[in-house]
Amino acid sequence: MNDYISFFKPTIGDEEIRDVTACLKSGWLTTGKFAKQFETDFAKYMGAEFAVALSSCTAALHLALEAVGLQEGELVLVPTLTFAATAEVVRYFKAIPVLVDCNESDFCMNMDEAENILERISRGDTVPGVKLGHKGVKAIIPVHYGGQAVDVVKCLELCKKYNLKLVEDCAHCCPAYYKDADGEWRMVGSSADIACYSFYANKTITTGEGGMAVTNDEALADRMRVMSLHGISKDAWKRFSKEGSWYYEIVAPGFKYNMPDTAAAIGVNQLKKAENFYKARKEVAAKLTAALAGIDGITLPIEREDAKHSWHLYVIRINKNICEISRNTLIEKLTEANIGSSVHYTPLHMHPYYIEKFDFKPSDFPVATKLFHEIVSLPIYPTLTDDEIARIADTIKSTVNAYRKR
Ligand SMILES: Cc1ncc(COP(=O)(O)O)c(C=O)c1O
Repeated sequence: MNDYISFFKPTIGDEEIRDVTACLKSGWLTTGKFAKQFETDFAKYMGAEFAVALSSCTAALHLALEAVGLQEGELVLVPTLTFAATAEVVRYFKAIPVLVDCNESDFCMNMDEAENILERISRGDTVPGVKLGHKGVKAIIPVHYGGQAVDVVKCLELCKKYNLKLVEDCAHCCPAYYKDADGEWRMVGSSADIACYSFYANKTITTGEGGMAVTNDEALADRMRVMSLHGISKDAWKRFSKEGSWYYEIVAPGFKYNMPDTAAAIGVNQLKKAENFYKARKEVAAKLTAALAGIDGITLPIEREDAKHSWHLYVIRINKNICEISRNTLIEKLTEANIGSSVHYTPLHMHPYYIEKFDFKPSDFPVATKLFHEIVSLPIYPTLTDDEIARIADTIKSTVNAYRKR
């Protein structure tokens, strides 16, 4: 039997091991100098003023919505083709996620559809999942699916026109780039009120678990920092250090979302390698595309001209006009060949909670509903070898050929 090709694999070097060991030996395991360093370096890398290191991207999204003042009964636009976190944070406030369908080409939130929904809501019409009596649209959380930017230019236009806060779910984007309205390349996340990044184990850079909230607004940064640590005012992490004092004040009922130094010690080193990881992923993506090109029956992911993909995910699509295989059978064949794979995502409107709570129907979001039955995420990471890429391609080719319509 061939060796297992895992779906994802973190790239951890001696530097990460050295600094985690130093952290453990220092006796300071919670938020401290490594977390501060990670924040400074991350803000610089993203070209932003402030970065707040947190326990996850979910925590960052939660704190971002709290900081922009989301209230019960308000609406937040969210793509249906995303992970649980993007919408659950809206529900934490008893606010309402307004789901938006995706583009067939790049699987990102369809901004024309978002505009259509905003227009209908502003006219007082209902849209799927939203009953009358709501308190208006507060924010939009675009997700840069797999690491390819949404149409940021159009998204910014909508934010301006409808006075929306822009909280970007950049879980897949460290780094990714988009072209702004002047045709200049910019970091994905740089135009948001708050951009939220993930360092979960499968992400482009990792701390095992972790996240970062990035903003240019000092008041938002301060609020997130305070709320990330029990609503305790000012530099609470210093309380037990030499510079600190025992004294603290609680100014709001906050959360416990700070990043420990054990994780940040990994993060500072991963960040130094982010550009190299990015180049390596791009190369692996190009090799996968070359190896899979010409297999009639699947569609390969694209990189739009106005976006530089992070290649966090490499998602292929079964063309059901040519090939009769189901998505699940293709995954089973990959598993039998000892190759890991996944599905990103079951759209939110197809999950029991969202169906029961908001009465969504598959036909409310036809593109995501169709895509769900056709998409498979293949392994992609800097250390994926040429032999492994060839094995993945051979397995897909022979399987898809066996199910071709005659
Ligand atoms: C699109 C998206 N948003 C948010 C998250 C949540 O990230 P975390 O696990 O760091 O909370 C993920 C995690 O996979 C994700 O894929």
